[in-house]
Amino acid sequence: MAENKNNPSQVGDTGHVWDGIRELDNPCPRWWLNSLWLSGLIVIVYFILYPSLPLINDSTKGLLGWTQIKEFKEDLAKVEAIRAPFETQLAAMSAEEILADQEMLNYAVGSSKVLYGDNCAACHGTGGAPAEAAGYPNLTDDDWLFGGSVNEIQMSIANGRAGTMMAHANLLNETEVDQLVQFVVDSSNGTANEAGLALFNAKGCFACHGADAKGIKAMGSANLTDKIWRFSGDEEQIRHTILHGVNDASDPETRIAVMPQWSEKVAIMLQVRADAIADEEDLNDIDWSDELEGDEAERLTETEIKKLAVYVYQFGGGQ
Ligand code: HEC
Ligand code: HEC
Repeated sequence: MAENKNNPSQVGDTGHVWDGIRELDNPCPRWWLNSLWLSGLIVIVYFILYPSLPLINDSTKGLLGWTQIKEFKEDLAKVEAIRAPFETQLAAMSAEEILADQEMLNYAVGSSKVLYGDNCAACHGTGGAPAEAAGYPNLTDDDWLFGGSVNEIQMSIANGRAGTMMAHANLLNETEVDQLVQFVVDSSNGTANEAGLALFNAKGCFACHGADAKGIKAMGSANLTDKIWRFSGDEEQIRHTILHGVNDASDPETRIAVMPQWSEKVAIMLQVRADAIADEEDLNDIDWSDELEGDEAERLTETEIKKLAVYVYQFGGGQ
């Protein structure tokens, strides 16, 4: 073979000649052929050891019985074994206790990232700060519609929220609307506007926004005296809110502001507990079979909601 390479005239040819160039019949190099046979062998070994042939509903199993899903489940089991003690402990703690315990807090925050990303980020933004035009409340500022204690946040998540303000298009004349828009702008700038305040009270705005226009948590009515806007500080936008209201089904141009409910069950439990605490009753005396029907909707579990409340709280805006 070696001498053939140097002397093409001694090699047999294929009989093909193009433009005076003869196609020789050299054998392939040995190393190349060996690799070819070896790769064939590897295919056969893999074929026998691992799942290979697709059948109608399944595939051949392979001698090792390996599957990707099995490997994934084994890894998952390892992670869960590490998490289990934390999860058990977490389930027994209140959100406030978690906040006070650095180790549990770290765990709760770390394990909530995916939960938040999957369920909340679409509306509230990855870090709790949505794009302004999206129309969702910012969870990182110190301004809360429904309250920023970890318990109130928990209630917001469990029960969902939807503040309502009726459309005022038919309740006010044009001058009154102008005056109220001016009043809202002035309030946010800290400028007194006596006439506007009188109208604010006369038209019943105070009933929801409070006599000081700072908002009432129980209603989720926005604070009108700060520069943090639920919707927008633009005069036209303020006018739009006053004319068409928020979540007023009778007005097609109303602003829609609905936070979905994540667990009816947890919402009821939080309410029953809060009432029991307010009435100074013993929490251990609560008869849950009596309070819960058992078929309450639950998109997230109690522990998940607790974790998320802690997660949102530590965005920096919790009170
Ligand atoms: C479909 C969009 C949407 C999703 C998904 C969503 N939210 Fe909301 N969320 C809202 C809206 C809208 C409001 C404000 C409701 C209002 O203005 O009355 C809100 C309000 C809140 C509030 C109260 C804020 C305040 O100022 O008092 C909290 C806390 C909150 N969301 C947390 C969460 C968490 C945690 C999740 C994930 C489990 C989540 N949200 C998922 C739309 C959403
Ligand atoms: C029935 C209760 C109710 C009444 C009455 C009411 N509001 Fe509201 N208003 C709300 C709620 C609740 C919100 C916040 C909606 C949300 O985010 O879910 C709001 C939001 C607003 C906003 C938006 C603030 C922002 O930060 O973007 C303005 C402006 C406003 N109201 C002005 C008024 C004025 C002026 C009146 C009187 C004409 C009035 N409201 C009467 C409940 C009410």
